[in-house]
Amino acid sequence: MASETISGQTSGISQLVSAPLTRAAIFLIVTINSGDENRAAVLSLCADLSALLRAVGFRDLEGALSCIMGIGSQAWDRLFGLPRPAELHPFREFRSGPRHAVSTPGDLIFHIRAKRMDLCFELATQIMARLEGAVTIADEVHGFRYFDERDLLGFVDGTENPTGSVAEDAVFIGGENPAFAGGSYVIVQKYLHNLDAWNKLPTEAQEKIIGRTKVADIELDDSVKPTSAHSALTTIEEEGREIKILRDNMPFGRPGHGEFGTYFIGYSRSPRTIEQMLENMFIGRPPGNYDRILDFSTAVTGSLFFIPTATFLDDISPDHLAPAASSGEQNSAAASAPVETSTSTAPSKDGSLGIGSLKGGNFHE
Ligand code: HEM
Repeated sequence: MASETISGQTSGISQLVSAPLTRAAIFLIVTINSGDENRAAVLSLCADLSALLRAVGFRDLEGALSCIMGIGSQAWDRLFGLPRPAELHPFREFRSGPRHAVSTPGDLIFHIRAKRMDLCFELATQIMARLEGAVTIADEVHGFRYFDERDLLGFVDGTENPTGSVAEDAVFIGGENPAFAGGSYVIVQKYLHNLDAWNKLPTEAQEKIIGRTKVADIELDDSVKPTSAHSALTTIEEEGREIKILRDNMPFGRPGHGEFGTYFIGYSRSPRTIEQMLENMFIGRPPGNYDRILDFSTAVTGSLFFIPTATFLDDISPDHLAPAASSGEQNSAAASAPVETSTSTAPSKDGSLGIGSLKGGNFHE
């Protein structure tokens, strides 16, 4: 976990959002069952997550085990009440013609990464043992790293990810929401591919859909790259400056069942950046000029979560009582109305990493 010091002050510790890509990952999404005892079980797990991570990770320090925990909009109200992260809301759906970015239930996400699947598996097992009876599984995906960091469409995936301080500036909330500085947002979508149809396309046609060459992974020149290319529609600029997100997509699947997928996971200091990308992909920029990946790929899940700092999670005590507890008793279906257009704007930036401290903060007032 990354500890940051701003202006000489020791501040909160962020979760390890910008960890290097790993060979294995488990994406676990659960909803919290109704009842105070289940809410208390989740709060208790939050506080103990870093200890569980240490215990499992210590069995192979070279394995680089990490776990990022995120909290959905309705679950936040139920667990913590006010204040709430400024931009936390249910996943926004986008729909146009046959293309639909669906919203599916999710109160908590655990994004578990390591160089070895056994480490991920063991941590997921320990987390679920702690949450037994308190949560219902909404989705579980075991992802693997494919040849040359490729997705199952055969293209290298992740090349244009920011690194170092650029990545941290892209993912961590700063001065725009000081009470939650050092936190982040994550959007996930599980895509299933029609590989038979995709593989019938000539390589040149595939390259125009992605916007990069297939073998060498070089970006197509603007003179040949269509404005509908995936890499074009997911490039967001504001005042001449590109607004980046951090992705850690993983292939998954079951060849015996004809299942071939990409688990999309994108971190950002504001969900609006990823929502703008989704709008460009599903509706088009301009409308109708949509992402042809979607002619071969279907989003079957979609959720948005806030990623608090590790310090925030460590400081949670199970007997914290949120005033809004009663308002969130039901499982969150996170059903937001589909939108055909959006007025998304990119997040404001203060230019600093701006990791703030929540330690001792009254986050459950
Ligand atoms: C079927 C699902 C998806 C697949 C197979 C896929 C695959 C790819 C590939 C192969 C690239 C080019 C290499 C790279 O820079 O990583 C790419 C770039 C990118 N993708 Fe996706 N992607 C998917 C979904 C999404 C979604 C849902 C978003 C955001 C909402 C997204 C955002 C981006 C961004 C920001 C880039 C970098 C663009 C650039 O700066 O050139 N992708 N993706």
